[in-house]
Amino acid sequence: MFASGHSAILRQGWDMEMKERIVVVDDDIMSLKIARRVFDRAGMEGRYLSSGDEFSTCLEEEYLPDLFLLDVHMPDVSGLELLRRLRAAPAYRNIPVIFLTGDEDVKTESAGLQAGASDFIRKPFSAEVLLKRVRNTIELRRLHNDMAEEIRVKTEKLSHAYIQIVQALAASVDAKDKYTHGHSSRVAAYAREIAGRAGYSEVELDSIYMMGLLHDVGKIGIPDAIINKAGRLTDEEYAAIKMHSSVGADILKKITDFPELAIGARWHHERFDGLGYPDGLCGTEIPETARIIAVADTYDAMTSNRSYRSVMPQEAVRAEFIRCRGKQFDPRFADIMIQMIDEDTDYQMKED
Ligand SMILES: [Fe+2]
Repeated sequence: MFASGHSAILRQGWDMEMKERIVVVDDDIMSLKIARRVFDRAGMEGRYLSSGDEFSTCLEEEYLPDLFLLDVHMPDVSGLELLRRLRAAPAYRNIPVIFLTGDEDVKTESAGLQAGASDFIRKPFSAEVLLKRVRNTIELRRLHNDMAEEIRVKTEKLSHAYIQIVQALAASVDAKDKYTHGHSSRVAAYAREIAGRAGYSEVELDSIYMMGLLHDVGKIGIPDAIINKAGRLTDEEYAAIKMHSSVGADILKKITDFPELAIGARWHHERFDGLGYPDGLCGTEIPETARIIAVADTYDAMTSNRSYRSVMPQEAVRAEFIRCRGKQFDPRFADIMIQMIDEDTDYQMKED
């Protein structure tokens, strides 16, 4: 299956345009001669070197072959040493190496294979066997590279699709509520910024961004009439709204590869003083990522237009974080939010 499609086209193009290239290093001039004849006849491009010095020059010129054929025993340097040099140079690390050996020494073979040689060919070699084994090794490496590239492209596409699916889901949640347009993506961005300032790694930042995007996904299960009600909510209506955190967690816990998504949804309305919902967790009982999303979520609620008020003045938002640090919010993340507000001198960080 990997020989089909894109990679097959690439390979056809390669076959048409480029000759296979080989570098042979051997102090035995007869062996070099025979090898040159074999590979010339096969239409391959080659460099035929008889010492470690010539080998070093070839590397300095950055000549990149499809395969190295190295004699194990040479007067100035061993084939094993040349292999070690190749494996230490990033450009040459993945080019296959076959050893030429005259002895029957099993130890040499095992050391060579351990150091990363692909194969051994015993001297004196037959032209046919030499060509066949060299071509097989080159073809195997090419298939391996094609597969690795195909996997890389597919993985990239999949992770891109994952982000887009999550964004689409977040947008569909926001679309239910005519007053919270773009809320989820703003909360995701604020949560990412807070976590970044708190020292989270890149991988953790990607994760908290996704948690932010999906923190309100449970609103899918709440009637539009309640979500969009302009006047004061009844106790029952408020209770229904509060259900969105556990509804969201129930939806997201089905995504078992990303358990953190359900954490963000379930606990983003918990309060540091234990007076939040749905579980009334207190302080560090609340997962840290959920404490960060709680800060980001409340910040966005205050800095976007609602049915009952427009964007709050920046001073009032700042005062609210000072007043509620250690009560509603983890003081550590409230302080980071206050720092972000102070740096936002022309109040850009709000709903457009
Ligand atoms: Fe929420």
